[in-house]
Amino acid sequence: MINLEKKFVVQPDGNINGQVSIPGDKSISHRALILSSIAEGETIIRGFLMGQDCLATLIALEQLGVSVDLSKESEIRVSGLGLDGLQPSSKTLDLGNSGTAIRLMTGLLAGQPFKSCLTGDASLRRRPMDRLANPLREMGAIIETNNGTAPIKLQGGNLKGINFESTVASAQLKSALLIAGLFAKGETSIIEPAVTRDHTERMLAAFGVDLGIQDKYICLDGLQGLKATELEVPGDLSSAAFIIAAGIIAGENEIRIDGVGVNPTRTGIIEVLRLMGAEISLLNQRMFNQEPVADLVVKATNLKGINLPNELVSLSIDEFPIIFALAACADGETLITGAEELRYKESDRISIMTKGLHQMGVKAEELNDGVRIKGGELNGAVIDSAGDHRIAMAFAVLALKANNPVEILNTANVDTSFPSFCHLMRSLGVIIEEINL
Ligand code: S3P
Repeated sequence: MINLEKKFVVQPDGNINGQVSIPGDKSISHRALILSSIAEGETIIRGFLMGQDCLATLIALEQLGVSVDLSKESEIRVSGLGLDGLQPSSKTLDLGNSGTAIRLMTGLLAGQPFKSCLTGDASLRRRPMDRLANPLREMGAIIETNNGTAPIKLQGGNLKGINFESTVASAQLKSALLIAGLFAKGETSIIEPAVTRDHTERMLAAFGVDLGIQDKYICLDGLQGLKATELEVPGDLSSAAFIIAAGIIAGENEIRIDGVGVNPTRTGIIEVLRLMGAEISLLNQRMFNQEPVADLVVKATNLKGINLPNELVSLSIDEFPIIFALAACADGETLITGAEELRYKESDRISIMTKGLHQMGVKAEELNDGVRIKGGELNGAVIDSAGDHRIAMAFAVLALKANNPVEILNTANVDTSFPSFCHLMRSLGVIIEEINL
């Protein structure tokens, strides 16, 4: 059970330095579990993220009859049941705070010839599910939602492939349809409005599935079996982003972050930071299965405001809380537009971030699809993260530049994606207290 009554207190001026490794990628960890559950044979996963979100997927899969061996610290082993081995769960599947878990699991369950019910916490029950329920209905699943939100009740099975042209740039939607497509007769194809993270496509290939991919078009034939494999999960660039940001604004000289995933559908944040003037080098570039990985070296730099290019929005979609924070300590103005999707994340990130910046004395103007932020002096403040893990971490980093300590409330959900955040920040020299209320 997550304890909601937690807060951080961060002292300014850490003068940080050092070298760290980052825990496993959240998106890749979810996919590794789900795809290995329906593969033939045992899959070994190294570097799996033991965060609450991925554990929610793990528990849901166990409820569906999958057995996962967690006895070793360095790896987990999933006994795959093949395409037709999952069993119905008599209980509702609770995916907690995780959008990826509920959407990918809905895609999976749409392919199963039995009834299921999926739900989550209050934040997840506010997020849009019709974007996924509608195309799955078109494929043949019977789905009931609560006015377009969870709980999702569904009767799966008997799917047929569809050609789906999506109006939302969402890797969760794309991935859920590809997973459902594995159980469908014929071909399933998706055209995305903008390129989104392609971990599902890369991992399906690692499990031996044939896909056709051309830029924003992806297709696969249904009823292809998956062959168990060995997977190594790279460090999560979305978690590394907070450490990178801390190194830029409060580094003594440079910091190093080892083993980070640098899939080009995720590296929008590196491009955004370079546009703002940051110096980030990628060393020892290598591959973990189908995923590119590098060690990052980040120099302390003064940032400048930018007009964030629209084409970088979907490639840095999870990094906007920290981008907002960095804009607040950059010289000049930053304009972000074309990012309305931020309103449908773990919280309405445009509104909650703007509110927190105002509390620190920053000039920030909320726009429908973004924000305009003028960098400047930062005051100490008490900020409610609204239970959003990335907002809590973004303000913890921004606190390093404030003129007084910053308290961040409602921080327990940091455990969903980055349970060792405070520990790693402390190892770099940051003074951050975690307080249970
Ligand atoms: C994710 C896709 C993105 C991202 C989320 C993880 C994924 O969500 O924000 O944190 O693992 O596919 P959308 O698909 O809603 O854009």
